[in-house]
Amino acid sequence: MTNIIPARNVLGYPPVAMSAFLRMGIERIRAAVWGVLFTAVLAALIVIGSRNLAHFDAALVGYTFAVLFATFAITYRYAMWLQRPPTALYWRRGWQVFFRRRFAVRNAGNWVRRVVSDFALNRFIARRGAFRWLAHWLIMWGCVLAALITFPLVFGWIHFETVPGKLDWYRTYLFGFPTMAFPVHSLPAFLIFHGLVWSAFAVIIGVMVAMRRRMRDHGAAAVQQFGEDFLPLILLWAISVTGLLLTASYIWMDAYGYDFLALLHAVTVIFTLLWLPFGKFFHIFQRPAQLGVSFYKDIGALEGMAHCARCGQECASQLHVDDLIEVERRLGYRYEMNNPAADHYQRICPSCRRSMLAIAQGRIWNPPTENAQFDNEYPSI
Ligand code: HEM
Repeated sequence: MTNIIPARNVLGYPPVAMSAFLRMGIERIRAAVWGVLFTAVLAALIVIGSRNLAHFDAALVGYTFAVLFATFAITYRYAMWLQRPPTALYWRRGWQVFFRRRFAVRNAGNWVRRVVSDFALNRFIARRGAFRWLAHWLIMWGCVLAALITFPLVFGWIHFETVPGKLDWYRTYLFGFPTMAFPVHSLPAFLIFHGLVWSAFAVIIGVMVAMRRRMRDHGAAAVQQFGEDFLPLILLWAISVTGLLLTASYIWMDAYGYDFLALLHAVTVIFTLLWLPFGKFFHIFQRPAQLGVSFYKDIGALEGMAHCARCGQECASQLHVDDLIEVERRLGYRYEMNNPAADHYQRICPSCRRSMLAIAQGRIWNPPTENAQFDNEYPSI
């Protein structure tokens, strides 16, 4: 096989990997700065939105600090992830191709289509199975609805007041500004005030469907792990059940055990918020970046495909091949080749790489000098 130029020093590390130790320190500082910035902005918004904490409920301070911590840690992890050379390049290129003027209309249309089909409808999971889709869709929308209700309420961004002179009417205040009013005993009021109950139903059904698959599907059972696959479901189930018990307590049981249940709900929610940046739930923040990759693939294909230097077949977009070469260099891997047909290993398609590997192994068994015929029939590239 053609020589691939090694780029390693005497310690066995690529030179870039050596300097990576130093670079990591800078990346950590940068990520921490982003984390502090996002957390400070949220804290400021809580103070401003609750009108200098006038509408902030001191009993919910535990929730608030858990959200602030989660904000710092999620931003820190995200910023670290974005600084990895492959992610950094995908991220930058994703935005560049999205804003390319000649593809603006096409990109805008695709953006709407993907947001509806992938985000709102979760069609990417439907391909893997109807029950998987149902579980994900119910859990996702249950949590989105719960977050849209609880976060603004906990931060004091939304509160309700009775309308002067109309004691059976409520007015909603957003960031301290009066908005719509509605009768307390009406269908909209019933739906709004029980919004968390509907989200709890959606989450519990979704968790049950997901649990059933984990228990019954032997393929899933073989690879699942407690922390990655069961703990998130158990936490969501615990949050939803303790929440529903709160409702049951004040509607049907004269608030029996309410304080204890409120504490239990807070413990489950706060544990989940603190764990959010470290475990499976981090994908909620990470996965949307996939949208940029889909534009990268679209536009890359439209701008021109690369042809394999060995077999001449189309393999990947030219943009992707060039970017891969660049990322590998930054990571300290140098697969440049001294061959007139191809200057870099990435210019060869995956199937030819497998062939080249087999040929290289064949040459070890039958060195070329002893087998000139083989050498002619199967050139290294
Ligand atoms: C899957 C997500 C969640 C579900 C399904 C859920 C469900 C519920 C339910 C059904 C209630 C009772 C509502 C009522 O009838 O008054 C409730 C109460 C509450 N939830 Fe959650 N919740 C979730 C997440 C959260 C989060 C993320 C927070 C905080 C950031 C939170 C904070 C609260 C608070 C403060 C209460 C009122 C408790 C009290 O009276 O002390 N919840 N939740």
